[in-house]
Amino acid sequence: MARPRVLSGIQPTADSFHLGNYLGAVRQWVTLQETHDAFYCVVDLHAITVPTEPAALRRRSRVAAAQMFAAGLDPERSTVFVQSHVREHTELAWVLICLTGMGEAARMTQFKDKSARFGESAASVGLFTYPILQAADILLYQADRVPVGADQKQHLELTRDLGQRFNHRFGDTFVLPEPYIPKEVEKITDLQDPSAKMSKSSSSPAGILEVLEQPGPLRKKVMRAVTDTGSEVLFDEVNKPGVSNLLRIHSALTGTPIPELVTRFEGQGYGAFKKEVAEAVVDAFAPIRERTEKLLSDEAELDRMLAIGAERASAVARQTMELVRDRVGF
Ligand code: ADP
Ligand code: NA
Repeated sequence: MARPRVLSGIQPTADSFHLGNYLGAVRQWVTLQETHDAFYCVVDLHAITVPTEPAALRRRSRVAAAQMFAAGLDPERSTVFVQSHVREHTELAWVLICLTGMGEAARMTQFKDKSARFGESAASVGLFTYPILQAADILLYQADRVPVGADQKQHLELTRDLGQRFNHRFGDTFVLPEPYIPKEVEKITDLQDPSAKMSKSSSSPAGILEVLEQPGPLRKKVMRAVTDTGSEVLFDEVNKPGVSNLLRIHSALTGTPIPELVTRFEGQGYGAFKKEVAEAVVDAFAPIRERTEKLLSDEAELDRMLAIGAERASAVARQTMELVRDRVGF
């Protein structure tokens, strides 16, 4: 039997992934490629829904792809590609936009959050239709499963609704994707503000651990992470959110269960504990950073890898769009 197909994407909106992206997305993608027919894309079309500088976009798309390979995505097994390299994304998005009601699109809560910083009337129509482009990404590849966090559930629902609507109106065309939560990875929080999630858009540099950062700064940030006035290493999200976040990080990176860590650090204070967390982060990130640098140093080779990904993705996308064009009446 064919393996179930999985699709996921990440925006090239920063010069490095952070620990949340790594644990919440990329590391899981590496695991999923063992059991799935996996498609992973760098969604640069989504990135331009907010003002984006061309040179930065181009650089960040390459850095994102390089980090995905460096983190363990195997180009033999996974189809890793840049969204804009496959023209069918925008074509299908247009068809789906025409199937979406204004009110339906207006109910997407992420637009409200994301447009808040511009004011709704200054935000682009692209930002408004962002979830519909996402639906096109998923339906185009006939994905069976989409790994989603809580904030993306609404978008996957819209994807299913649009797929179903198209199938109903024009004849069976799209696979309706199921949400897939491979392993509950809890939110990694900002090191300086444990009440907020670690995020490239809202965290200060001191609150975020970047995959491509050097060991020195990484260690410093962990040592300076906000904890609390106590001294015991305990998992208590209400009274010790900072310490709990560091325990989650350690556990996720080393595979040691949290209760075991709590026992191990009994009576040792925060200093010794933070030192170990820092080493776990450095051990996880250093090899990825080194492989990323190597991949980025050979432009032609990275281009070749991305061309292979785009070609494989295009083969599927073309097939879907031929069907769609025929059904719509083009
Ligand atoms: P950011 O919030 O930094 O802009 P994105 O929204 O681009 O990150 O997230 C890309 C992926 O990384 C998503 O799959 C998301 O679930 C995951 N992710 C982002 N931040 C975190 C976090 N703090 N903890 C766990 N996963 C996260
Ligand atoms: Na985000």
